[in-house]
Amino acid sequence: MVYLLFLIFLCHLLNVIDSFIPEGRVGHSAALVGNMIYFFGGRLTNFEFSNEVFLLDLSQPFDTFAPPWVDLSYSASVPFLSFDATTSVIDDNIYLIGGYMFDLIIKEEIFASSVYTFNINSMQWTPIAIKGIMPQRRGLMNSVSDQAGKIYAFGGYDYPNNQNNSTKVFNDMIILDTTDSIWSYGTKTNSPLPRYYYTATILSDGVIVYIGGYEVVGCELCFQIVDIYQIILYDTKTDSWTKMEAGGVENIDPRYSHTAVLDSNNTIIVYGGKNSVNQNSSPSLIVLNVYVQPYEWIIPSTNGNYTPPPLADHSAFIVEDYMILTLGNLTISDENTSEIPNTNVYLLDLRAFMWVNSFNSSNSSSTITTSVQISETTSPDSNYSSNANYHLNSFDGYEQITTLK
Ligand SMILES: *[C@@H]1O[C@H](CO)[C@@H](O)[C@H](O)[C@H]1NC(C)=O
Ligand SMILES: *[C@@H]1O[C@H](CO)[C@@H](O)[C@H](O)[C@H]1NC(C)=O
Ligand SMILES: *[C@@H]1O[C@H](CO)[C@@H](O)[C@H](O)[C@H]1NC(C)=O
Ligand SMILES: *[C@@H]1O[C@H](CO)[C@@H](O)[C@H](O)[C@H]1NC(C)=O
Ligand SMILES: *[C@@H]1O[C@H](CO)[C@@H](O)[C@H](O)[C@H]1NC(C)=O
Ligand SMILES: *[C@@H]1O[C@H](CO)[C@@H](O)[C@H](O)[C@H]1NC(C)=O
Ligand SMILES: *[C@@H]1O[C@H](CO)[C@@H](O)[C@H](O)[C@H]1NC(C)=O
Ligand SMILES: *[C@@H]1O[C@H](CO)[C@@H](O)[C@H](O)[C@H]1NC(C)=O
Repeated sequence: MVYLLFLIFLCHLLNVIDSFIPEGRVGHSAALVGNMIYFFGGRLTNFEFSNEVFLLDLSQPFDTFAPPWVDLSYSASVPFLSFDATTSVIDDNIYLIGGYMFDLIIKEEIFASSVYTFNINSMQWTPIAIKGIMPQRRGLMNSVSDQAGKIYAFGGYDYPNNQNNSTKVFNDMIILDTTDSIWSYGTKTNSPLPRYYYTATILSDGVIVYIGGYEVVGCELCFQIVDIYQIILYDTKTDSWTKMEAGGVENIDPRYSHTAVLDSNNTIIVYGGKNSVNQNSSPSLIVLNVYVQPYEWIIPSTNGNYTPPPLADHSAFIVEDYMILTLGNLTISDENTSEIPNTNVYLLDLRAFMWVNSFNSSNSSSTITTSVQISETTSPDSNYSSNANYHLNSFDGYEQITTLK
């Protein structure tokens, strides 16, 4: 009898583990390490903030009807509720940077450290003591890292809180050198307008490409959605800002809360986002060709039976030949329908620009090979850890904008 009960319990347990599906959310952060995508926190559909940690295991082929989600919250949850943070990966550490932190018990805002690391081997969270001038609290940044272990996080947004009643949007370039744990700041010469909700993508030559988002023009709280053709570039090698007006296909909608990933051909694939009236930007899928000067927008033609809906606040990564999209909101909203949380996983097979339902990588059981494959055309001599430079963060959102306008 006891044995039978134990068996039932065991089956139940296995079933629970097997069928974990994360709750829909926005404002989470995510990071790709090897062939695992880790997800942290966010705001759930009941508007509660989260400290959950879970991953999508890409080491085996899978079908999008049953994505290989693995819950890590029991052993590895974030030590606070985390919202609108950004991540960068250096070796086996995921740096969780900025965003809003709420105490787990009293649910009030805390600001203990602006950077925590999550080590994927020990599954431990550690607040990082960093020398130099600590940046002011902020969220809605999108950080990238270079091969020398420096993390670059531009701008961001801070909303009124119990310490300060003012809303602030930043335009400083925060640089964290992880090799000696020190803050520094990029040049202010030619620095762009204060901006948040954008995407940042670092190219193999060390230039960071900033696309979209909201900027503040003219007065302190004059928010304006960024024209998608107005690209901002920051050269990490020379510490300099330049502006570029992109060409290519005309009349592409501006957007914030979209994602941008770098494919193995060194082109930037942008998905989703919302326009100035908070509806989905069209078209959802656009590609920035960075081989020509000025860069050019392309609308790729796709096929396949598994086209995703328009999304915002989702996460996007490229693993081998696939772009993987998940979480965030379906932005099919009109004045009468609210956005719907997305828990599906969508796959774009980049070899044929085909939306597919199975992830069947040629080499998905080998972590190292997976990483090398991702980076081999962007940076032939990069190794496993530097590959992390080419991951793209989830772009996290907050509907604060609507209340500000
Ligand atoms: C509140 O925010 C304003 C604007 O950013 C800043 O000048 C001021 O120092 C802040 N006050 C506190 C107490 O942080
Ligand atoms: C912020 O504004 C609220 C409402 O106007 C007020 O009650 C509160 O004291 C203010 N807090 C600070 C820190 O100024
Ligand atoms: C929203 O609802 C109102 C009232 O029912 C209706 O008149 C309007 O056409 C609806 N709008 C859309 C976009 O469906
Ligand atoms: C996502 O959808 C929910 C409704 O399900 C909505 O409350 C929220 O504002 C949407 N977007 C963001 C960025 O939170
Ligand atoms: C890269 O470009 C080549 C030639 O245009 C194309 O055949 C290949 O599918 C592209 N790969 C990706 C990942 O876009
Ligand atoms: C996955 O790839 C293998 C080898 O390339 C092939 O034999 C198999 O049919 C593929 N499976 C699916 C579901 O596409
Ligand atoms: C897969 O990885 C193995 C071991 O790294 C390598 O020998 C093999 O050539 C790879 N296969 C493909 C199709 O890339
Ligand atoms: C990986 O790259 C980093 C930075 O370029 C370098 O310091 C390190 O020695 C490399 N490691 C290996 C195993 O090649």
